Amino acid sequence: MSGQVSWIPSDIDLGRASPARVYDYLLGGSWNFDVDRMMAQQAIDRMPWVRDLARHNRQFLGRAVRFCASAGVRQFLDLGSGMPTFKSVHEMACEIDPASRVVYVEQEPVAVAHSELILGPVPGAGIVAADMRDVNAVLDHPVTKSMIDFGEPVAVIMASSLHYILDAREARRTVESYLDAVPSGSYLVLSHISDNQGEGSDEVKGLVELSKTTSAAGVARSREWISSLFETLELIEPGVVYTSQWRPEGGLRLVTELPSHASLLAAVARKP
Ligand SMILES: C[S@@+](CC[C@H](N)C(=O)[O-])C[C@H]1O[C@@H](n2cnc3c(N)ncnc32)[C@H](O)[C@@H]1O
Repeated sequence: MSGQVSWIPSDIDLGRASPARVYDYLLGGSWNFDVDRMMAQQAIDRMPWVRDLARHNRQFLGRAVRFCASAGVRQFLDLGSGMPTFKSVHEMACEIDPASRVVYVEQEPVAVAHSELILGPVPGAGIVAADMRDVNAVLDHPVTKSMIDFGEPVAVIMASSLHYILDAREARRTVESYLDAVPSGSYLVLSHISDNQGEGSDEVKGLVELSKTTSAAGVARSREWISSLFETLELIEPGVVYTSQWRPEGGLRLVTELPSHASLLAAVARKP
């Protein structure tokens, strides 16, 4: 993408890669810049199957959204939503019920600009430009208020985004605050990079180190910590597993078949 394109927000730092745009590039998107592509190449050098990691995560998101929609959920709060591309959450949800509503929450300016462009004509979807840690700003935002009825179940989605909240207590508090705001019958959909000592853990360390040079560093956390987020919830089978193992449907062309190479642990759980 050329730096001359008119929609590019004026306040972005084109000298620094952003996880949203690197992830977009790894998925085959075009909402990224040279700096992001160079960073993606460094990620590939450290973890040759990193595209699989991204694809597995995105496919998990699709299966989880369809699961929630099939369970009757019609409202989705997608926190750290990235670029609304490669079949976005509103398209996935609307396949089950066209009346579904989706609020995307994103802080990265290019992802916000892209979302505004794509979602402008979509009646059941909106974008909130906010830091998801600012729970009140998200929940009280006019877009959220106009789209989501907090008296009805909501699927709270944190797909590959919670690990950008570096402080573990703040990350946990953020999850709890959103869950407090939604009624019984709501769902938490989560994927989070794991520091499990399985095959691929050295490569995960390399990615985490690399992320420190981007606009948003990430942190890998243990299976125990990630699982503990679900303690008060009803975990949906198969529980906390790698993204590739959560109700797989196949169909992906992969570099690696090793489950631990998916690197992100994932789960879906219902609020009782
Ligand atoms: C790896 S992408 C994942 C995108 C999408 N959720 C998915 O799973 O396909 C992570 C996204 O989280 C966003 N993000 C990270 N921290 C955030 C925060 N505090 N508030 C809002 N968005 C955040 C990043 O900008 C990025 O777009």
